[in-house]
Amino acid sequence: MAELPPQAATEAVLVKSCPMPLGTDTVRGYDFNDGVDYHKLLESYARSGFQATNFGKAVQEINKMIDKKLEPISEEHAQRMNLNPCNREKTNCTIFLGYTSNLISAGVREQLRYLAEHNMVDCIVTTAGGIEEDFIKCLAPTYHGDFSLKGSQLRDQGINRIGNLLVPNDNYCKFEDWLMPILDEMLKEQKEEGTLWTPSKMIRLLGKKIDHPDSVYYWAYKNNIPVFSPALIDGSIGDMIYFHSYKNPGLILDIVEDIRRMNSQAVYAANTGIIILGGGVVKHHICNANLMRNGTDFSVFVNTASEFDGSDSGASPDEAISWGKIKKTATPVKVN
Ligand SMILES: NC(=O)c1ccc[n+]([C@@H]2O[C@H](COP(=O)([O-])OP(=O)(O)OC[C@H]3O[C@@H](n4cnc5c(N)ncnc54)[C@H](O)[C@@H]3O)[C@@H](O)[C@H]2O)c1
Repeated sequence: MAELPPQAATEAVLVKSCPMPLGTDTVRGYDFNDGVDYHKLLESYARSGFQATNFGKAVQEINKMIDKKLEPISEEHAQRMNLNPCNREKTNCTIFLGYTSNLISAGVREQLRYLAEHNMVDCIVTTAGGIEEDFIKCLAPTYHGDFSLKGSQLRDQGINRIGNLLVPNDNYCKFEDWLMPILDEMLKEQKEEGTLWTPSKMIRLLGKKIDHPDSVYYWAYKNNIPVFSPALIDGSIGDMIYFHSYKNPGLILDIVEDIRRMNSQAVYAANTGIIILGGGVVKHHICNANLMRNGTDFSVFVNTASEFDGSDSGASPDEAISWGKIKKTATPVKVN
């Protein structure tokens, strides 16, 4: 007679399942036997599991922002939006887009430019590199390299590495030649007309001056999309401003006026949605502005940061809810 396995082991392995709640999605990926249908392929992500599912949820969350944006705006909200100092066209959902500087260094810039060109976002936040690399790319190209290229050799060759991308130092020299006369003009206008410059006003001016359809900030200028960069001096622009302060001193960039302008984008909005690619300054600046309205309505975070170190970059949407930066009733998504 066959020996029976120990009852304890059988009971442990073959624990009875409760039925899954009605309507629970099953896991199923895209089948290429159905042809190459990009729409269906992307739609299938929601049921594929792991970060593909989070991507699918992010698409749904962004679609909610767009649907809200397309709804008519109430008279009361339209009145409130008159208080927005940036005088942006009125919309029922103000969409904030934040991204780190490396995304402008990379080819993601072209997709970010598309969003600005077609006026699909209402407020942009990025770091210094996210501003200057866009303009520099209008003056000279960024090249492909390799993560393993030796720093000391690159230094001898006057080539800077951003991940596996390469930017010759000459590009920054071209940028200096372009920027310095603009800084002179800004200082002249400040002295003669009393203009109070802020980082966002400077970015708008640079977008106008570059006059180039490849530039994100050219389109932001054309479409009156405010662009905020509270750490604008933390990069090549800062180097130029530093040197300029010796050559032709006196230029002032007022971050106080900019925090009023930035927070106003959230305070006077009818509804808001936030899409934040990467962490650091850009993530917090957008979330903090939305604290001023007791939380944003729709949120998507995309980043590689984890929360175990307590960083704001890695902080989950739920942590932002605890601070009042995302509404308690919202359905935020983080794609890791
Ligand atoms: N070209 C440049 O990269 C450049 C140039 C000049 C100055 N800087 C300066 O370097 C500093 C740091 O840059 P930063 O604040 O823009 O971002 P960062 O590079 O410090 O990134 C912040 C966090 O965002 C997440 N992240 C970044 N890239 C990501 C990606 N591709 N996918 C998913 N998650 C991502 C990571 O968790 C990262 O820790 C800034 O102060 C900036 O001005 C950068």
